Amino acid sequence: MAEALHARGLGRRYHWRGGFHDALVGVDLTVPSGCVLGLIGRNGAGKTTFVRISSTSLLPTSGSLEVLGLDVVTQADEVRERIAVIPQESRPLYWMTPLELVSYYLRLRGAPVREARARAKDALAQLEISKWGDTQVNRLSGGLRRRSMVAMVMASDAEVLFLDEPTTGLDPLARRSVWEAIRKASRERRTVFLTTHYLEEAENLSDRLAVLEGGHLLAQGTPAEIASRVQYPYRVTVESGFRREDLAPYGPVSQIGSRWLLFTSEAPARELSRKALEKGARISLGPVSLEDIFVQIVGKEIEAEEVGEDAAT
Ligand SMILES: Nc1ncnc2c1ncn2[C@@H]1O[C@H](COP(=O)(O)OP(=O)(O)OP(=O)(O)O)[C@@H](O)[C@H]1O
Ligand SMILES: [Mg+2]
Repeated sequence: MAEALHARGLGRRYHWRGGFHDALVGVDLTVPSGCVLGLIGRNGAGKTTFVRISSTSLLPTSGSLEVLGLDVVTQADEVRERIAVIPQESRPLYWMTPLELVSYYLRLRGAPVREARARAKDALAQLEISKWGDTQVNRLSGGLRRRSMVAMVMASDAEVLFLDEPTTGLDPLARRSVWEAIRKASRERRTVFLTTHYLEEAENLSDRLAVLEGGHLLAQGTPAEIASRVQYPYRVTVESGFRREDLAPYGPVSQIGSRWLLFTSEAPARELSRKALEKGARISLGPVSLEDIFVQIVGKEIEAEEVGEDAAT
């Protein structure tokens, strides 16, 4: 399968107040063409830095990155023609209407007038904001503005879409209309590079996931591949029948209200279900969610760093 994006040893160092900060360190990431990649990571992990380099608005300080086989530094103009971006916290021009915003954007990208208007209308309908198509942006709520931006990139003919937290601040229904638009783009075989803090969203939409922490890529692959690599792939909720000390040998236990939450691996999960059946205990068991996986992967990295720091002091 062709590659939509390929980063090799990508690094970005920010110089700041006489010092420096490495926002990305040796990132090797491949995104196959036509897939939705969910890039997740805590605040400051380097997601926006990665998106800005990929979309040619920031230069890397080491390594290389190709989008659609084109180098983002030496072939930036060609890259720009084939991608569309929603930068984090970007806002549309306040004096335009959503319909103007989307159609002018398409005109700038070379679409004829009529076609631009027709495609803009379709995109506004897709994002369920047709009703506000002729309302000036400064009279729209934050969520409607954000959806206008999503309509803009969706309406374009870009082959790779970079969406940096497109659903932050959207209500649950608005978020779903953005999800539908992303799925549609994916059906059209476009590549979507999505960053989000909503792990349920990343889980629902992404064909592949990448986890960044402190500028390092900790994991990449399909959700199933990433899940298969964690130490505790099962989550067990225990309502009755077991005490904390009964559960502790199986894995980490925490309390949630009146219940116990246990993370464990396959063989102990089987043993525990058998015991629960025998004694009529109430437990529920299933695979871990992406949120659990994230906490395991990133939590382990933070712990390792803390141990390293302690050892060094
Ligand atoms: N212009 C800059 N100068 C110095 N440091 C910067 C600059 N831009 C970003 N950084 C630092 O680089 C790191 C990565 O920032 P980045 O914006 O890529 O994170 P992020 O993963 O997008 O975070 P968030 O989830 O909060 O959006 C952070 O520590 C940030 O403080
Ligand atoms: Mg960011």
